Amino acid sequence: MSGAQQHKTLKGMQDILPPDTFLWQSIEETSRRIFSSFGFQEIRLPVLESTSVFTRSIGEQTDIVEKEMYTFTDKGNRSVSLRPEGTAPVVRSYVENSLHNLPAPQKFYYSGPMFRYERPQSGRFRQFYQIGVEAFADPHPRMDAEVIVMLERFLAGTGLKDISFQINSIGCEQCRPGFRDALLSFFSGKKENLCPDCIRRYDRNPLRILDCKVSRCVDARSGAPRTADHLCGDCGTHFGKLQELLAMLKVSFTVNPEMVRGLDYYTRTTFEVTSQALGSQNAVAAGGRYDRLVKEFGGPDTPAIGFAIGMERLVGVLKQTASLSWPVPAAFIAALGEAAGDEALRIAGRLRDQGLWVEVGDSGSSLKSQLRRADRLSARYVFVLGDEELRSGLLRWKKLADASQGSLNRDDIEAFLAGIC
Ligand code: HAM
Repeated sequence: MSGAQQHKTLKGMQDILPPDTFLWQSIEETSRRIFSSFGFQEIRLPVLESTSVFTRSIGEQTDIVEKEMYTFTDKGNRSVSLRPEGTAPVVRSYVENSLHNLPAPQKFYYSGPMFRYERPQSGRFRQFYQIGVEAFADPHPRMDAEVIVMLERFLAGTGLKDISFQINSIGCEQCRPGFRDALLSFFSGKKENLCPDCIRRYDRNPLRILDCKVSRCVDARSGAPRTADHLCGDCGTHFGKLQELLAMLKVSFTVNPEMVRGLDYYTRTTFEVTSQALGSQNAVAAGGRYDRLVKEFGGPDTPAIGFAIGMERLVGVLKQTASLSWPVPAAFIAALGEAAGDEALRIAGRLRDQGLWVEVGDSGSSLKSQLRRADRLSARYVFVLGDEELRSGLLRWKKLADASQGSLNRDDIEAFLAGIC
């Protein structure tokens, strides 16, 4: 067709197609299985929220709010944003639906697309998917440990190897002022080395300088004060206990005192799971405690902790490092002629009722071309149904993996496959 317009996905957005979608589904199933065993329940929230849900909670001076949100005015003249992350919407929902009235602790998981207008590169997209969890109303470091162990079990369950956590504590309202002062005096003589955003951040939110991706800011912060050196007594005890529990639970971790995370709502524990296989964009999952956020959203004073996994990054590492196998049809029924085609459809229906993946050949095409298709699909068993089989009630079968073959009574096909698929 001449002059037809070819449409393309937007920059930073991608289609997720088979066979990758098999891997996505298996990761999602693993998450449901593991998270439910820890008592987490699913919630599904809108993709679009009032912009104010994100601005204060994530922080006005963060990269996400300053540069990356898909924000627009809707037809009712409201400022709305595509969610750049899931925590703030979950807290919005927690307060709006009074979920604090449920028995404590309240534990939720969610999954879906998030949107950040970032410069696309390997492992960084403008639409990406997260699976996340949030646990409310338990201030004890045991909850931090439980959430981290759950993440580890989940990642191991997907086939990810050599999982290691980086953890840090960024303190609370008590320790923040002292840390802020230390940062201000450290950067006071270096202000001119910072990017324009960080010069603004210096006065309003100097902690954010520690997270800036601009290379001159990365250089300028070498030797900067570390949050862990400015913890108050309670935060120090909390962090110490968490490390004790993780060691007891045999979770591999290192303390990274430079990790501050790119969102303002965190208090105390922060953590990331990285993978060497991912290069510079190497956090597969990340999270932390946010003990003030529910109150800031107008709810009761409720501590909380959670994490989110970046699906594209997890899928990327698994494709590089894990031995993956894709599902294949259990049976391919090659049918020769009209009557055999109808019978094949009936047999396929019976097998599909057993939950098996069954393909039926095109009865109008040659046996050779039907077998070629079975081969391309890597079907486990091929059954051949022609005039002779229709008369005899038998079916010829062939196992593609080792070319073994035989015949069986048509009525026995469910039992035959039940024993081997
Ligand atoms: P985050 O570190 O901004 O945290 O994102 C979590 C994960 O999402 C990252 O570790 C990464 O795997 C993935 N991710 C982030 N941005 C992109 C992108 N542009 N392209 C691909 N993957 C990306 C949060 O979002 C917090 N809400 C996590 C949390 C939950 N904290 C407490 N509860």
